[in-house]
Parts: sequence; C-alpha cells; structure tokens
Amino acid sequence: MLDQRSAKPHERLAQLLAPEMEAVNGLIRERMASKHAPRIPEVTAYLVEAGGKRLRPMLTLAAAKLCGYEGPYHVHLAATVEFIHTATLLHDDVVDESAMRRGRKTANLLWDNKSSVLVGDYLFARSFQLMTETGNLRVLRILSNASATIAEGEVLQLTAAQDLKTSEDVYLQVVRGKTAALFSAATEVGGVIAGRPDDEVQALFDYGDALGIAFQIVDDLLDYWGSDATGKNVGDDFRERKLTLPLIKAYAKADAEEQAFWKRVIEKGDQRDGDLEHALALLNKHGALEATRVEALAWAAKAKAAMEQLPAGEMRDLLIDLNDYVVARVS
Ligand code: IPE
Ligand code: IPE
Ligand code: MG
Ligand code: MG
Repeated sequence: MLDQRSAKPHERLAQLLAPEMEAVNGLIRERMASKHAPRIPEVTAYLVEAGGKRLRPMLTLAAAKLCGYEGPYHVHLAATVEFIHTATLLHDDVVDESAMRRGRKTANLLWDNKSSVLVGDYLFARSFQLMTETGNLRVLRILSNASATIAEGEVLQLTAAQDLKTSEDVYLQVVRGKTAALFSAATEVGGVIAGRPDDEVQALFDYGDALGIAFQIVDDLLDYWGSDATGKNVGDDFRERKLTLPLIKAYAKADAEEQAFWKRVIEKGDQRDGDLEHALALLNKHGALEATRVEALAWAAKAKAAMEQLPAGEMRDLLIDLNDYVVARVS
C-alpha cells in the first residue's frame, strides 16, 4: 500500500481509482488481442506491459467520478483513450525514428516500422469499436474529433520541422493538436457521460487542454534538460530537427554566428559530435529553458483555475495536485 502523503499525485489517483483502473486494464488486455494475427498481441503486450503512467484514462475516470457518474461506461471511455494514446505512440516512434519508449526499446526497433504502423492502425480501430459500446453519440464525436486533431497536429509538426521560421503560435497549435486534444477529450467525455451542464463540461475541457499543453511543454523541455524518468532518449528533438519551444526561443535571440549554427544543424541537418552540447549551451545562454519552464507554469495555472470551477472534493484536489506534478518534473 502506498503512503498517501509521500506518493506522487498520479500514484494517489491510481490508488483512489484502483478498482476502475483494474477494469480498464482488463478491458485493454482483452481488446488488444487478436485471434488471427499473432504479431498484434506480441506488440501490444510488449508496449502495454511496459506500463506507462496511464494518465489519460485516469483523467477520464477522475472526471466522471468528480461529476458523480455511477454508470459503467467511464471504463470503456478510459480504455478508448488509452488505446488512442497507444496507437499514436506506435506511429509517433516510427515518424520520430525513436529508439526508446517506456524505458524499453521501441516496437519499431524490436520488430519493424511496418508492424508499428499496422498494429497502431489496429489499436485505433479497436478504440472506435470500444467507444461505440457507450451508445453515446456526443462522446463519439468528441473522441473522433480528437483523433483527427492529433493527426493534424502531427502533420503540422512534420511540415514545421527543420523550419527555423516556425513561430511560438505554430508551436502552440502543434502541441494543442498532438497532445492536448487527447487530454481535453479525456476529461470532457468524463463530464459528458455523467450528463453534466455545459459550463462544467467546458471547465473540464479547459482543464485538460491547459494540462496537456503544460505536459507537452515540459516533455519538450525534458528532451533537452534530460531526465531518466521519461524513459526516452535525451536529444531526440534536436536530432529530429524539431522546432520546440526552447529552440524557438533561443533562435529568436541568436546573433549572426549562432544563427549560422542553427541553420547548419536544424535546416541542413548537418549535425556533428558536440553539436547537441553546443545547442544546450546556447539554450542556457539565452535563458530559453527557463523561459520555457515559465510558460509551462503559466499553462498549469490555467488548468488549476479551470478545475477550481468544478465541485470541491478529494477528486478535484487530486486533479489540481496532478497538475502541479506535471510541471514539478522541471521545477
Ligand atoms: C508520451 O506521453 C507522449 C507525449 C504526449 C509526450 P506519456 O508520457 O503520458 O506516456 P506514457 O503513457 O506514460 O508512456
Ligand atoms: C507526442 O509527441 C504526441 C503523440 C504521441 C501524438 P512527441 O514525439 O513529442 O512525444 P515523445 O517525446 O515521443 O513521447
Ligand atoms: Mg516522439
Ligand atoms: Mg513526435
């Protein structure tokens, strides 16, 4: 049993939601299988058993409980959300050519890109089957819209990569799409399934949106800042020549010599030994990591303000703590 006080907010949330999370995990295990194509359970079991924080399904369960929901379908919705997330991770690691996920080799490395793409498609399709079981058209609309928005965000990021003219506005659009859309859908459907009034559903959406943005900004910061806790490699974004917030901020302050450096490594993709270290030195020199951290904190404050509009209680306090925890990774 975890100590309530010292446990991290997502662990406390997991404890409070343990019976439902068990049902969610059971549903995930049941639906990730396939009778006809053994490669599917191989890949899905490998990724699902590696763990993952299960943040998004917990958000759905917590939102539904916060809203007093007593039916069974928050479990289906939570599993749907985690399936969508897992599908996007499989695809994302192919697109990003990543080698580490959840502290393990990525599926694309262990099997191949083809398996990751196809198994990702399978999981997407399974997520849609699952959500139809709720019989609620409004949640179908929210989750299918979110799926389209995620893909849009990933494609926008693809075309913004290597482009040093990418603005902070475009970055925000990417992050809102590829990451926050699933967080906001996860919290919103919890309120919708509970039949709550529009203003509460909107507050849940706003909480998820701001939390998701803060989460991705922190993730992008950790890509340079470095932390074993992420279970991913440091410097992936630099190698992928992605215009994340730290880089956008440092480039905005670059002198002529620094601009030439960024053009070589990001636009031309001519990266040599020591370049990542030099990039880091420039990010520090211009306070770009600190400015990025401040921005993550501002989004976290927005998430908190949205949550404060919802009914007071243990679940609300935990969601507020979860929000602090997301940014505490870089505090
Ligand atoms: C990873 O999300 C993808 C991003 C949006 C950065 P998580 O960090 O929530 O991944 P898992 O599920 O815990 O592995
Ligand atoms: C995460 O994008 C968003 C999705 C998986 C759709 P990233 O590429 O930034 O996330 P990590 O760093 O690989 O987890
Ligand atoms: Mg990635
Ligand atoms: Mg990516």
